Amino acid sequence: MKITVVGAGAVGATCADNIAREALADELVLLDIKEGLAEGKAQDMTQTAALLGFDTRIIGCTNDYAKTEGSSVVVITSGIPRKPGMTREELIGTNAGIVKGVCQNILKYSPDTIVVVISNPMDTMTYLALTSSGLPKTKVIGMGGILDSARFRYQLSQHLGCSPADLNAVVVGGHGDTTMIPLIRFATWGSTPVTKFLTPEQQKQIVADTMVGGATLTGLLGTSAWYAPGAAGMALVESIVRDEKKLFTCSVSLDGEYGQKDICLGVPVVLGKNGWEKIVEFDLNDEEKAAFNKSAGAVRAMNDVLKTL
Ligand SMILES: NC(=O)c1ccc[n+]([C@@H]2O[C@H](COP(=O)([O-])OP(=O)(O)OC[C@H]3O[C@@H](n4cnc5c(N)ncnc54)[C@H](O)[C@@H]3O)[C@@H](O)[C@H]2O)c1
Repeated sequence: MKITVVGAGAVGATCADNIAREALADELVLLDIKEGLAEGKAQDMTQTAALLGFDTRIIGCTNDYAKTEGSSVVVITSGIPRKPGMTREELIGTNAGIVKGVCQNILKYSPDTIVVVISNPMDTMTYLALTSSGLPKTKVIGMGGILDSARFRYQLSQHLGCSPADLNAVVVGGHGDTTMIPLIRFATWGSTPVTKFLTPEQQKQIVADTMVGGATLTGLLGTSAWYAPGAAGMALVESIVRDEKKLFTCSVSLDGEYGQKDICLGVPVVLGKNGWEKIVEFDLNDEEKAAFNKSAGAVRAMNDVLKTL
């Protein structure tokens, strides 16, 4: 099993570190455009092997795509992150060129790979990766909803005083401060709806705090977060390479599901060795459907910006 992570910055390096610790690959390639960065981080990570006990060979390289040859999964994290006060959408001008170029280079050496897109604005970057690569739709997967759902579980756990691991909670829609939809009506603690334990005010607060989860961290850190995004990237890759069939919200190409077409948007999907294998359609009520359609409208407007670049 060979996995490549493009971009050895905060998110890429954290994702790679988690992939190595979980022993998901025999060989892990870390690639960056900045001279020496990926080589240095790969060597630093490799020096943890004696302490943590993993055998993954970690190879760092500067823009040398030949080293990525034969990768089963490629995770794209290259691009600029947002600064405090910025939206993810403001990154499109710079990141579209980076993501498109990276996809072209990757496919020269791994034409059958599964591509996981993390760079923002993620839904639009996933759409760009899909339309510019010619890969089957099941092999292009955007990472966002799995992270937002983890943040939703964190917020719920703080109010309920429980373990996030005991919560089942899903965020769908776009991966943006105003486009994501935490589906609180479907969230459960054990098998009981969380709404049974929370006042309407608490529920509103949890949803609002989840939606600005990334922006809150950007305000504190001065750049976007990396531990949870890196772990989310790893969990997504794990379900693919171990064929776990886990249900995670990912941005995938819709063809009528949830009433949308020609767009990549966050919906619950089963992830296995073939990429995303099935979309699970939740029975949304009118209010949730309206929020999903509004979210799709905003992401579609962002996709239209690609035509102007
Ligand atoms: N989808 C999500 O849930 C999520 C979460 C967090 C961050 N992000 C996004 O992930 C991206 C990376 O964030 P970060 O915090 O790691 O940023 P970072 O600046 O720490 O790292 C980005 C890396 O990409 C590299 N890079 C730039 N152009 C490249 C190219 N053409 N080829 C290879 N490498 C290139 C840079 O040299 C840098 O090392 C950002 O766009 C950020 O908004 C997404």
